[in-house]
Amino acid sequence: MIKVGVYGASGYTGFELIRILRRHPSLSLAFATSESGAGMRLSDVFPVPYDLYLLSKEDADPGTVEAVFSCLPHGAAMETVASAHAAGVRVIDLSADFRLRDAAIYKQWYGQDHMAAHLLSEAVYGLPELYREQIRGAALVANPGCYPTSVLLALYPLLQAGLIGDGPIIADSKSGVSGAGRKPSLKTHFVEANENFSPYSIGRAHRHLPEMVQEIESLGGPGASLIFSPHLTPVDRGILSTLYVPVPSSTTLTSIHNLYLETYALEPFVWLLPEGQLATLAHAVHTNRCALSLTLAGPGQLIICSAIDNLLKGAAGQAVQNFNLMFGLDEAQGLDL
Ligand SMILES: NC(=O)c1ccc[n+]([C@@H]2O[C@H](COP(=O)([O-])OP(=O)(O)OC[C@H]3O[C@@H](n4cnc5c(N)ncnc54)[C@H](OP(=O)(O)O)[C@@H]3O)[C@@H](O)[C@H]2O)c1
Repeated sequence: MIKVGVYGASGYTGFELIRILRRHPSLSLAFATSESGAGMRLSDVFPVPYDLYLLSKEDADPGTVEAVFSCLPHGAAMETVASAHAAGVRVIDLSADFRLRDAAIYKQWYGQDHMAAHLLSEAVYGLPELYREQIRGAALVANPGCYPTSVLLALYPLLQAGLIGDGPIIADSKSGVSGAGRKPSLKTHFVEANENFSPYSIGRAHRHLPEMVQEIESLGGPGASLIFSPHLTPVDRGILSTLYVPVPSSTTLTSIHNLYLETYALEPFVWLLPEGQLATLAHAVHTNRCALSLTLAGPGQLIICSAIDNLLKGAAGQAVQNFNLMFGLDEAQGLDL
């Protein structure tokens, strides 16, 4: 059994992670942290019969485990991640702190200096469908953002094949309220979110934009063409991104479908729907899947629908997928296909 620890277990992604770890056959959970819940049991902070006692992060000793998952907010994660890394422990960080390779871009978008910038070049972007081999050998994995996971998996086959034409790539994304974390805010207040549907940080203003631009450009694509418009939708969980992408006007739906089939043929967690079907939240929530559907609206006008569960393929499920790769286990162990 591989001993692991979880920082930030009292949040939504931390709790989801603990639920997976409990049924994972190769892991044992050595510690879980919460600052507000230190000294309490997990069953005191979530309605589950789980008597694990929570520690404050200062009392959790990374030296007692082989790997840690950090489910802390950005900014708070970097120091904890750096200490665990310095203790020789393999780290999967779910925050944005190690996703951007350039510390200046991090500061521009997150409004603070990076306290562990020396680790940015070492961190591997944890999207297994793109970086599986690098993840296997990584000491530090930066788990991707939830929106970027849905958008990048939708675009990857086109980027690889160099098939994106001129003009904007529009990613119109809808997220459930758990995407904002457990800490309440006016935006996530029941009365504000329920029966409502709100755009926010639209255009090129959301913090996930530079992460997507970085990865699109690494694959030789036009990052500057991306327009990303997120929306809050009144469901607990799930992200549906609808992407409008310019492709060569000679492209047929069958040729694009075949390209996606070939790219993702061996991927356990990418589900390409048959021509004529459309991906919905229900194709993905409560699983680690990304469901994709393809539609040609007219010559050169491709529409991709991409659905994930923000807490699973967008966070805790993908983190375990990365862990499995890092420790040479079956990539799907503990996860719902
Ligand atoms: N929610 C999503 O869909 C999603 C998807 C992908 C990635 N992420 C990322 O994953 C991370 C966790 O997200 P979440 O939604 O689980 O957040 P959350 O529900 O707000 O939980 C945050 C956790 O971090 C702890 N925490 C907060 N501030 C801390 C600090 N200064 N020092 C130590 N612990 C602290 C909290 O503990 P106490 O409050 O109990 O002290 C809690 O356990 C974030 O970086 C987020 O951006 C979230």
